[in-house]
Parts: sequence; C-alpha cells; structure tokens
Amino acid sequence: MSDYWKKEWESIASADNDFAMLGRNGFRFSDLTIYLGEINAALKVCPEDSILDLGCSNGMICAFMSPFCKRITGFDYSENLIKVAKRYYRDIKNISFECRALADADLSGFNKLIIGAVFQYIDKETAKDFMRKLNGSDIEKAYIGHVPDIALKDSYIKGYENFITDKDELKKKQEIWEKRMTWFDERDFDILSDRYRIEFKNPDKKLVQHKYAFDICLERK
Ligand SMILES: C[S@@+](CC[C@H](N)C(=O)[O-])C[C@H]1O[C@@H](n2cnc3c(N)ncnc32)[C@H](O)[C@@H]1O
Repeated sequence: MSDYWKKEWESIASADNDFAMLGRNGFRFSDLTIYLGEINAALKVCPEDSILDLGCSNGMICAFMSPFCKRITGFDYSENLIKVAKRYYRDIKNISFECRALADADLSGFNKLIIGAVFQYIDKETAKDFMRKLNGSDIEKAYIGHVPDIALKDSYIKGYENFITDKDELKKKQEIWEKRMTWFDERDFDILSDRYRIEFKNPDKKLVQHKYAFDICLERK
C-alpha cells in the first residue's frame, strides 16, 4: 500500500496548484481558514510551541502556523514535496522540513503534533506502532485529522455513483477507496487513552465533502 501511495505523492508534487499538492483540489483560501481554525482549536497554538506537522506535503500548513509558534517542522515521505516545501519557505526562519516517513518520525523535541489526512495511507500496524510511540513522547496536544471512518465507508463509496457518470472512471475511483485506503474505527485509537484524553469530532463539511472521516483531538492527561 505504502509504495503505491508514495509513488502517487511523488507525482502529485508536480501539480501546478498548491492545494492539489495537499490532495485538496477543490480547496479555496476560505476552506484553508476553516481548516487552520480546526487545527488550532485542537492545539491551542502559543508562542512557546515546537510543532511537528507529519505529512506536511508542500509545507503550506507549516507556513500559516509559523508566525504563532516558536518553531514548526514538516515531515513528509515524498522527496519531491519536501523539495517544494524547502523552496517555497526557505525565507521563514522558524520552519524546517525533512524527508521522513511517519513510521520513522522522531517525536522528541516537539510538544504539539499535526497529522492531517495521512492515516488513510498507512496500514493499521503502522498506525498502532505510531500510537505507541506517541504515548511515550512529550507531545501534549495532537490533531489527527480526516481519518476515514469505517462506519461511513460503504455509503461514501456508493455515493460516487451520484456524480461520476463514466463507468470506468467510477470503478477506478471506487476501487481506490475500497482497496487502497485504510478505514478506521474509533476503537482503533483506544491505545492512546492511557496517556491522552481523546475527543472525536466531525470535520467541517466543506473540508471533507461527502462526509467520510472523523478528526481526533488529543490532550495529555
Ligand atoms: C492528503 S495529503 C495531506 C497534506 C496536509 N497534511 C493536509 O492536511 O492538507 C497527505 C500527505 O501525507 C504524506 N504521507 C502519506 N503517507 C505518509 C507516510 N507514511 N509518511 C509521511 N508522509 C506521508 C503524503 O506525501 C502527502 O503529502
């Protein structure tokens, strides 16, 4: 799975639209404002914070967060996206980027964590290993956003019939969501409950059209 997606993200890095590089083709700046608001509601960002944005893509979220924290680092496993991020934001002093996969992410030195729309690209074992690492880290608050909800899987996949008329295109799209994405149950996150208060939220409809995902806000107990 991860090889398939890594190749996809390496090629998405050459999109000519910055939102497309985030996998958010239809996004406008108004949507970005809502998204940043949801992240900030979870993290309550302050000037002392050292934030890690895991799966940072072209670094856009880091750039918008950077004036409000001490430092922010973006990790992404796509070399091409990290190159774009470094080029775009080379003049911002408190930002850094590293090519790093979620499974190899070192959380030390950070007190807040953003993971937006990444969990669907990792398998359950990787997710569990990561959550164990998070439990043992110094992260005080975390936002794990747009996690596909297994309870909504069938209706979401079927829903494509309402707006893709070409049969081949429909089949291709549905197969991706059926076979290539990882869908989660809220209980998959029980592992975190020893160390964190967990709140599950519904992301704003503008951010995840056709409702398929939940957000997880974590606060250290
Ligand atoms: C849908 S985009 C989300 C971008 C941004 N976080 C946001 O919320 O708009 C997913 C990003 O996660 C990255 N990604 C996916 N799986 C990853 C992994 N296992 N390790 C690191 N980055 C990963 C992709 O390269 C891509 O940049």
